[in-house]
Amino acid sequence: MRIDILTLFPQMFQSPFGSGIFKRAIDQKLVSINTHNIRDYTHDKHHTVDDYAYGGGPGMILKPEPIFEAVESIKLEIKPGVNDHESGELPIILLTPQGRLFTQKIAYELSRYRHMILICGRYEGVDERVRQHLTTDEISIGDYVLSGGELAAIVVIDAVVRLLPGVLGSPASLLYDSHSAGLLQFPQYTRPAVYRGWSVPEVLLSGNHAQIAKWRREQSILRTLERRPELLDKASLSLEEKQLIDRRKQS
Ligand code: 6GU
Repeated sequence: MRIDILTLFPQMFQSPFGSGIFKRAIDQKLVSINTHNIRDYTHDKHHTVDDYAYGGGPGMILKPEPIFEAVESIKLEIKPGVNDHESGELPIILLTPQGRLFTQKIAYELSRYRHMILICGRYEGVDERVRQHLTTDEISIGDYVLSGGELAAIVVIDAVVRLLPGVLGSPASLLYDSHSAGLLQFPQYTRPAVYRGWSVPEVLLSGNHAQIAKWRREQSILRTLERRPELLDKASLSLEEKQLIDRRKQS
């Protein structure tokens, strides 16, 4: 997957992708991450990227021209003469607190594209024509305000890249992720079997794989009920599992 990021702060992307699974994924060419400084697409002497809001009000607004031109130059680099934006093949995503809330489902959807462009908003906003005539989607990572879209872009890229084939050592581990089945993850343990008098649950030492799978599934459901009950409405549960929930609610 190729990821292009438009930002006023390209340095912010250096260290997050310089270590761990990202470095490996980049070195193995499973993903390429290209940052573009929006300022490089200005034409005036002062490299102006923002301006006052029409109608007044505090704060500066990112100008449309450098953002449009940056996206157009990336598109030309990829497929000269072809406008994939029109064909819907290329997500152009604005990171903004007004976007749709990012979820594991959206991470899976994005992981299927060969290419995406992320635009990091800054200051008090981005000219509305960028949203209306350039971007295909707007994403927020939660109900709080960050000073810019950069950290949100890093979050989105992390969640997407780890889903790409070959990036994680063990693809099976994706099945156990919190949120992958719409439930939170079950409790995990490693050695020692007894630490400071606290024992690992007996069933995990039993070697009975069917029992272990059953215990884990129950723990996932009960933990979700306790911490994020609203997630259970969308999870697919057996009759037996629904009864487990009802019993727990009554006790
Ligand atoms: Cl994508 N941007 C900003 N500035 N703040 C946010 C956000 C994005 N998502 C949550 N808060």
